[in-house]
Amino acid sequence: MKRIGMLTSGGDCQALNAAMRGVVKSIINSGQEVEIYGFLNGYKGLIYGDFKMLTGSDFSGILTVGGTILGSSRTPFKTIKDPDENGLDKVEAMKQNYYKLKLDVLVILGGNGTHKTANLLRQEGLNVITLPKTIDNDLYGTDMTFGFQSAVDIATNAIDCIHTTAASHGRIFIVEIMGHKVGYLTLNAGMAGGADIILLPEIPYDIKKVVDAIKKREERGSKFTIIAVAEGAISKEDAKLSKKEYQKKLEKSTYPSVSYEVADQIHKMTGQEVRVTVPGHTQRGGSPCPYDRVFASRLGAEAGKLILEDDYGFMVGYRNREIVKVPLEDVAGKLKMLDPDATIIQEAKMLGISFGD
Ligand code: F6P
Repeated sequence: MKRIGMLTSGGDCQALNAAMRGVVKSIINSGQEVEIYGFLNGYKGLIYGDFKMLTGSDFSGILTVGGTILGSSRTPFKTIKDPDENGLDKVEAMKQNYYKLKLDVLVILGGNGTHKTANLLRQEGLNVITLPKTIDNDLYGTDMTFGFQSAVDIATNAIDCIHTTAASHGRIFIVEIMGHKVGYLTLNAGMAGGADIILLPEIPYDIKKVVDAIKKREERGSKFTIIAVAEGAISKEDAKLSKKEYQKKLEKSTYPSVSYEVADQIHKMTGQEVRVTVPGHTQRGGSPCPYDRVFASRLGAEAGKLILEDDYGFMVGYRNREIVKVPLEDVAGKLKMLDPDATIIQEAKMLGISFGD
């Protein structure tokens, strides 16, 4: 008998259910008996012993369903070692629940913050296997995370829709795409949607260069411009500020986000109408795309295999087109940033895309 605890933590994304289904199906199909404890709403469920028992049938019919059947929440790693408002030691509470339920392993699906806590639990002696989820694709140790391709589809569709209305009105349009720290989603959706200008956290922009790129398009007869802006895009001046100074600037800012600041600056410098569209959390919603269904199912199946082999302490990741196990200590606390010198950036520039740099 295997006793498996499972939880989904952090911002949700598509294919969380597909991944959990993959784990459970692969174990059941091996003939191994299994008890599944689904902790609700991320680490909170593990801390407060809030779980439901699940059987194989709970994982039927969820391959195509977005969100997570377990619910999710953000439990910041920064404060994980601090006692809760009632003085409860959260790390100790998670360990106690694990031992009380006599679990063999915790299967944890999450992104960066989630992996820091997962690694802490491993260091504390628990058996842990993780699966890489996030629409940002910024998890270290894996070339791909599930959720990313589905979000690229949605963000691309947003740009596609804006394209036709931008062309009708001859306007400048900004589409703000998720990603506070990294620009993979914006870069991919921007290129797929034929954006003319792409602003990313990894490549600070100069607003004058952005305006130059718009003017050049006009000189060539283009009546509209599409700009894909990552949530975390940053100007060259702001990139010189310390983290604290930049945070202060953001707090004082009257703009809801960087896109509105860019829009205002472009309007003031060109006199043209600029509109901002923010698809926001739609990028994390809905049914996973076929790529993510297959990818998450494969990762889940491989996680099941590790559990059957009692091989713990790994994230099941993807590198050089192969599913691999990556030691949790190699993943936790590291961010996978986009390299500004990556060939994809050079190729985008060859296509005439401006990064405002
Ligand atoms: O980490 C995934 C993500 O969707 C980011 O792209 C985005 O910046 C952030 O989460 C939004 O977080 P929240 O759902 O807490 O508003």
